[in-house]
Amino acid sequence: MAKGFYISKTLAVVGILFSVAAMATVIGLSVALSQEKAKNENSIAPGDTNVGTTASDLSRDAVTMQPPNEIWNRYRLPNSLIPEHYDIELQPYLTKNAEGLYIFKGKSSVSIKCLTATNLILIHSNKLNYTLKEGHHVSLEAVDGSNPPSIQKAWLEVPTQYLVVQLNRNLEAGKTYKISGEFTGELADDLAGFYRSEYKEDNETRVIATTQMQPTGARKTFPCFDEPAMKATFNITMIYQPQYEAISNMPNISTTSRMIDGKQWIVTTFDQTPRMSTYLLAFIISDFGNVEKHGSKPQIRIWARKKAIRENQGEYALNVTGTILNYFDRYYNVSYPLPKSDQIALPDFNAGAMENWGLITYRESALLYDNEISSIGNKERVLTVIAHELAHQWFGNLVTLRWWNDLWLNEGFASYVEYLGADIVQKTWNIKDVILLNEIYRVMEIDALSSSHPLSSKEEEVNTPAEINEVFDPIAYSKGASVIRMLAEFLTEPVFKAGLHSYLNAFKYDNAVYSDLWTHLQKEIHSSSNLPKSIQGIMDTWILQMGFPVVTVDTSSGKITQKHFLLDPDSKVDRPSDFNYLWIVPISWMKNGVVQPGYHWLQNSEEINDNFKTSDWVLANINVEGYYRVNYDSGNRKKLLQQLQTNHLVIPVMNRAQIISDAFSLARAKYINTTAALETTKFLINDTEYMPWQTAVASLDYFKLMFDRTDVYGSMKKYMKKQVSALFQHFKEMTDNWTTRPSGLMEQYNEVTAISLACTNDIQECQTLASDLFNNWMNNSSYNPIHPNLKVTVYCSAIARGGEKEWDFAWEMFQKATVAAEADKLRAALACSTQPWILNRYLQYSLDPIKIRKQDAISTIIYTANNVVGQSFAWDFVRANWKEIFAMFGESSFTLTNLITRVTQRFSTEFDLQQLEQFKLDNQDTGFGSASRAMEQALEKTKANIRWVQENKEAVHTWFNAEIKSSL
Ligand SMILES: *[C@@H]1O[C@H](CO)[C@@H](O)[C@H](O)[C@H]1NC(C)=O
Ligand SMILES: *[C@@H]1O[C@H](CO)[C@@H](O)[C@H](O)[C@H]1NC(C)=O
Ligand SMILES: *[C@@H]1O[C@H](CO)[C@@H](O)[C@H](O)[C@H]1NC(C)=O
Ligand SMILES: *[C@@H]1O[C@H](CO)[C@@H](O)[C@H](O)[C@H]1NC(C)=O
Repeated sequence: MAKGFYISKTLAVVGILFSVAAMATVIGLSVALSQEKAKNENSIAPGDTNVGTTASDLSRDAVTMQPPNEIWNRYRLPNSLIPEHYDIELQPYLTKNAEGLYIFKGKSSVSIKCLTATNLILIHSNKLNYTLKEGHHVSLEAVDGSNPPSIQKAWLEVPTQYLVVQLNRNLEAGKTYKISGEFTGELADDLAGFYRSEYKEDNETRVIATTQMQPTGARKTFPCFDEPAMKATFNITMIYQPQYEAISNMPNISTTSRMIDGKQWIVTTFDQTPRMSTYLLAFIISDFGNVEKHGSKPQIRIWARKKAIRENQGEYALNVTGTILNYFDRYYNVSYPLPKSDQIALPDFNAGAMENWGLITYRESALLYDNEISSIGNKERVLTVIAHELAHQWFGNLVTLRWWNDLWLNEGFASYVEYLGADIVQKTWNIKDVILLNEIYRVMEIDALSSSHPLSSKEEEVNTPAEINEVFDPIAYSKGASVIRMLAEFLTEPVFKAGLHSYLNAFKYDNAVYSDLWTHLQKEIHSSSNLPKSIQGIMDTWILQMGFPVVTVDTSSGKITQKHFLLDPDSKVDRPSDFNYLWIVPISWMKNGVVQPGYHWLQNSEEINDNFKTSDWVLANINVEGYYRVNYDSGNRKKLLQQLQTNHLVIPVMNRAQIISDAFSLARAKYINTTAALETTKFLINDTEYMPWQTAVASLDYFKLMFDRTDVYGSMKKYMKKQVSALFQHFKEMTDNWTTRPSGLMEQYNEVTAISLACTNDIQECQTLASDLFNNWMNNSSYNPIHPNLKVTVYCSAIARGGEKEWDFAWEMFQKATVAAEADKLRAALACSTQPWILNRYLQYSLDPIKIRKQDAISTIIYTANNVVGQSFAWDFVRANWKEIFAMFGESSFTLTNLITRVTQRFSTEFDLQQLEQFKLDNQDTGFGSASRAMEQALEKTKANIRWVQENKEAVHTWFNAEIKSSL
């Protein structure tokens, strides 16, 4: 799956302006996840909601009478039987039945090989109802024609999601049997298994049937051995009505028609799949259109709603797919394993995208691109998500990790190479650098907490579906990507590629564990390499213990030390580590601007190395290839700042971002003073690059939240205005007075950062520019002259400065918007008003589903809370409406957690704390449900904020004031 699943859709679209917000979302999610974990540890698996009652009656008695520790009470399949081949026939009904339900009918059989004699068959089955044949759910035959054992009893074991079949005698080892059954399931709109998705086109509601099997949806579609190592081949047949079309992992090979209940149905059979895991299956019945790359091998098609295809929204994806597939073909040196590659954009989709083999599914915003309406950020997302999913077609699909505990390798790897694949298409974008902001710094925020966890977990720690879902977290994706990038860098690309090739060849159509990759990489390392240990020996320190080190280089003594980096210096680490929180750290470095050859490998907590004892300045971790932070002695820090302020270009752009990010983190962890961190932003007055600027914006966001209701903010704004003025002028010239866009990705991003900072920090020219553009649009609403990149920023500035007229116009445009990306941008900007009554009205709208869709209610309140003027109104609103909000969203822990976190993010006074405590007291009856943990954290964070403000306010204020004066 693409990582998009843990960044909400709106935030992803509004990405740039609110990138800090996205970071908060990630953190919010990790909280939600650990909370889920706590919940699941002492509760029973989710109950069954079968359609009809055929099966459950039978099963219930059986369940209650069994002693609790039978094989079928365990979540993992026994190894006595393995599937070899499935034949599956599915018939979804895309209209409601008499009971008002959407259902599908299915028929399936699976050949299983018996490895060790057993009289028990366990096969996954969830929420399926079987047609009983001779009193049993399934029938059994022996493939050699001999008499099979007869079925004594069969029942559904709901908590562990099994169909259990007990036989009167053993199946024989070495023999192959076939189990067959007929069943029905609900085609619900639950985004899991075989599900229904609805969308509107030309004012008509349409229904399609589609799938999301990962991780445990296949068992909700047909009875199967639903574990990734239970690979088999599949023959799939779909039965559907003539106005639709069916696609699946493989190309179709035959089509016939059949009369069923007096109606004509189409029966399409697909070619047999290679050996594969159940979680990668996909089949879709839709009335979508497609575009095809003619003459390409493999066949490449992009599918979407017909209207989107007519508007050419699939063209970009179509154009880049071939290039990326070719690239990975060469990169892995293994040809694409399937005859075709289909990619489809779905109107309702939970994740960002899913890498089903040969039929990749996406949410619309991750595949479709509109030249007129989409921004460069939308384009980057489409490109990187496609590259991520295509990378999985080999790594993950052809070779699959044996169990979900190794998910981090699958997703971490794809989250790293997605940048390589994207770079091949947009060669001038420098997109590989973006990994620093999107993965490394983002995940370090979470991984520096004492509540983090190691990348790798033991196989026996991940069992239930809830535990499996939990491994899909930012640590797996973003930390996984960060440490694999580090590995690829110190091994060098030729070695890394050769090892990958050897790994893929050794395990194709089969399964592996993460250490198999280390073994194959190790084979490619020649004696000349000077790694301090085996790959396994090095990597164990990064994946078996949580967190990462801060490396301190002391140039006065040549002493280099490492220490587990914790953002909160008072936090306690309970989790033991076999490596005592020491890492084997590759340190690349430069001295006075000259890159030194090779790595210094730091293996102990403390070392003296004369190379680092120098009066020149030293910079460690070039291009942030290593997953760690760096601290220096104060003398070296001063020299680095001096270099930045004389000629910053001597320091690589990634490291200019690093110096800022490390300094602010070190200040929060109390390694250095807060004002020392602020010093690292001074050189920005001369810098025009996105990476350092955006890092500073993200780092300073906390200052803004703590101070934008105090007198410090006036000084901070003046400082920011001074810093950004030159950047604003730089882009004004580059874009011919804002009439064109810069060509590069980084330039386009930084143009937005420049305008956004200039407008919010009172550069009049910027505010006028935004208002003029917006006015032009108001004067002719049929033509929007604002470039998609600039929309959020321009709308926001114009609405903040405008009044009722501007707001009402934007509201009208919001209601008329037909493209989701545009509606999302307007909805975010509507919260930028500075008029209390308008903001209060908007808050009222947020809970009115006719005005704002329910899925957008909470994020609308959050947008309002982000606005310093809206903050207290949003807080009042949440307090006044808590019962209603809780009733509407109590189920969704992620949403409520996010709301509490964000609406209290500015709390930093005793008065705020009192209010929060009162709120908790007042709502003890209603409770906070899944947001209880968020409430506790909000209280704790408020206290921490009060302390931080007490300790830093004075010094920060003085620092800003001195900086403004020095420029007068
Ligand atoms: C089968 O696949 C071919 C080639 O992709 C396509 O042209 C045809 O429409 C498909 N048939 C059905 C019934 O979907
Ligand atoms: C599965 O399909 C292939 C062709 O795609 C066919 O050769 C094979 O006989 C089928 N298997 C079964 C068990 O029907
Ligand atoms: C900006 O650049 C100028 C000229 O290169 C230099 O003199 C000045 O010190 C720099 N200012 C800062 C704050 O880096
Ligand atoms: C830039 O554009 C603004 C408004 O569009 C206009 O008033 C101004 O004269 C232009 N400046 C230059 C240098 O072209």
